[in-house]
Amino acid sequence: MGLEHMVLSTPSLDESLRFYRDLLGFRVSDFTEVRFPGGELRLAFLHCNPRHHSIAFMEAKGAPKRINHFMLECNSLLDVGIGRDLCTQRGVPIGIELGCHMNDRMVSFYLANPSGFAVEYGWGGRVIDESVWQAERYDSLESIWGHPELKAMVASMAAAAGSGDERRHLPPSSAAAKHRPPCRRVPSNESKEARERHAATPATRRSRQS
Ligand SMILES: [Fe+2]
Repeated sequence: MGLEHMVLSTPSLDESLRFYRDLLGFRVSDFTEVRFPGGELRLAFLHCNPRHHSIAFMEAKGAPKRINHFMLECNSLLDVGIGRDLCTQRGVPIGIELGCHMNDRMVSFYLANPSGFAVEYGWGGRVIDESVWQAERYDSLESIWGHPELKAMVASMAAAAGSGDERRHLPPSSAAAKHRPPCRRVPSNESKEARERHAATPATRRSRQS
């Protein structure tokens, strides 16, 4: 399916919103604010079509403006699995292992590219119905399942947001993560089809297909 979204670091989330939301007309999918003892991370996810977000901004005061990652969406989960195997076979470093994001429900993993930022590779992202969508709010970037390195990466980014240390924006090689429930999701944003798709267990999915 091709390019899905980009996530960019910005020294001012408010300035980025003024340009992309207020001037260009992107609409807010969700705001995420994660607080840590050493800092705070603020993000905004914006959409301009049914994709959950085409661009997102992560405020990192004092840090250089840079790409955090871009995302490529596959046609099927099968393609994601084959891509993950190819990374192993060809020695491509993995920044964040397979998982499913809370806000956009993308099943993905992150590989490192030679430019020093990540490429997210996945499938199954959430589709927005603009006629009923209400902006959501989250206080965590932890995933529904998987993405075990994400929690440590977010803590590192939050600390770096205050220090201006660009190196700390890179994902660590490994870390443990613990699941935490989401905050302030809007039930009306869930289409019936999406609720069924994400609530279904592998067993029920198989029975529906047969
Ligand atoms: Fe992403």
